[in-house]
Amino acid sequence: MSQLRRSGPSTAGRVAAGVPPSGDPASSRDPASSAAPIAPHLLPLTAAVGADGRLLVGGVDICRLADEQGTPLFVYDEEHLRARCREAVAAFGPGVAYGAKAFLCKSMARLAREEGMLLDVATGEELSIALAAGASPSSLVLHGNNKSAEELDTACSLGVHRVVVDSSDELDRLVGALAARRTGPGGSAPAPQQALVRVTPGVEAHTHEFVTTGREDSKFGFSLASGAADAAVEAIAAVDGLELVGAHAHIGSQIFRLDAFVQEIALLVPFVKRHGLSELCIGGGLGVAYLNGEAAPSIREWASVVHAACASAGLAQQVRVTAEPGRAIVATAGITCYRVGTIKHLPGIRTYVAVDGGMSDNPRPVLYGSGYEAFLPRAASSPRPLPARVVGKHCESGDVLVESARLPADLAVGDVLATPVTGAYGFSMASNYNRLRRPAVVFVGDGKARVVVRRERVDDLLRLED
Ligand code: LLP
Repeated sequence: MSQLRRSGPSTAGRVAAGVPPSGDPASSRDPASSAAPIAPHLLPLTAAVGADGRLLVGGVDICRLADEQGTPLFVYDEEHLRARCREAVAAFGPGVAYGAKAFLCKSMARLAREEGMLLDVATGEELSIALAAGASPSSLVLHGNNKSAEELDTACSLGVHRVVVDSSDELDRLVGALAARRTGPGGSAPAPQQALVRVTPGVEAHTHEFVTTGREDSKFGFSLASGAADAAVEAIAAVDGLELVGAHAHIGSQIFRLDAFVQEIALLVPFVKRHGLSELCIGGGLGVAYLNGEAAPSIREWASVVHAACASAGLAQQVRVTAEPGRAIVATAGITCYRVGTIKHLPGIRTYVAVDGGMSDNPRPVLYGSGYEAFLPRAASSPRPLPARVVGKHCESGDVLVESARLPADLAVGDVLATPVTGAYGFSMASNYNRLRRPAVVFVGDGKARVVVRRERVDDLLRLED
């Protein structure tokens, strides 16, 4: 058996400040390498190929797993998830939070907590799942650009680690939530709720427009340039029971160019200093490689650029610098397995390969034009000379999973086909379009597989109906 893995601690090889942004939108493929086997750095950490050419992850034969569990199937390498969490904690310290929106279920929340990460939750529902997983309120950071009174009530009465204040209207609701807490049945005054203020720094991150969040024209946060963020600090300071400890910004997602974070920090540090804040959270956003030939900075490289930028901007050493990586923790840990059902050769046009999932389990290609690779786990290191478009089974032509895939020439109906780097924003954005049942999620490690989320059944689809 050969280990497919490259060296190094993280999801990718080298620092890529100058590497073209990719994944979103579909980036150009290097023609020279297009028939090449799937690149090892796109596969989970423990991926290995047996003498028979079959892919094992966590010591588990992936084709056999797909036979046993059915398809589509989300498969996560548990060791990979743990390694990325540990890398984040080592790089940023214990204040670093996992951006749970990238992939959240109880087992993932537990795993991130076991490895020492806090959990960034963006809704009351994500908060409930984290609590159901046994996470303590003091390990949760509550985000969201339109938190309801109910979400704020819950967060304040539980006493979450941080509430991130996103708007003036939300601050009004927060005042109500804190007042309700003070007059509650508890008696003595509770400890102040610690908060961060979300600042929009006005940075153009070079990524897809829909996932850019840090520029002026944004629904998120208080603008730095207009002075709204300074005014928000004063407004927050005036609220009884609320303690402003720091500033938060998030400039976008799938960012390859670390200089965007350097810019963000250069803009935020004067704000942090001006208000004597003790914490700066730079958000998430680190990109990952999706295609052969791409490389992204590692979490460790990201953190060292962030720390150097903080130092050169004159941020005091005692200010806690934190981050909230989501994608960089989970994306490469996950692969999705499908079953090939139809192969349609259109001479002079293209080959369509239809699988048993589609835009309902991975809407990213449709939403953002994201590019992916495809390969056959039964022939994991085989060349892929056959150009093909991998499509799903939904009733629309736009239901594309891999626009420009390359596959082995002996591809056949019945094969298990896998898309790597599908651990982030696939399961979490999955839908029941065409009433497809959402796939199961399996963690693999030490030669064993455990189902952490079972596949939906038809009665799950019907249970809300009268
Ligand atoms: N913190 C905040 C406040 C965020 O809004 C996000 C992501 C993160 C952290 C984690 O960002 P990450 O490290 O995963 O880039 N659905 C899109 C991505 C949306 C990101 C939303 N916010 C996609 O599939 O590309």
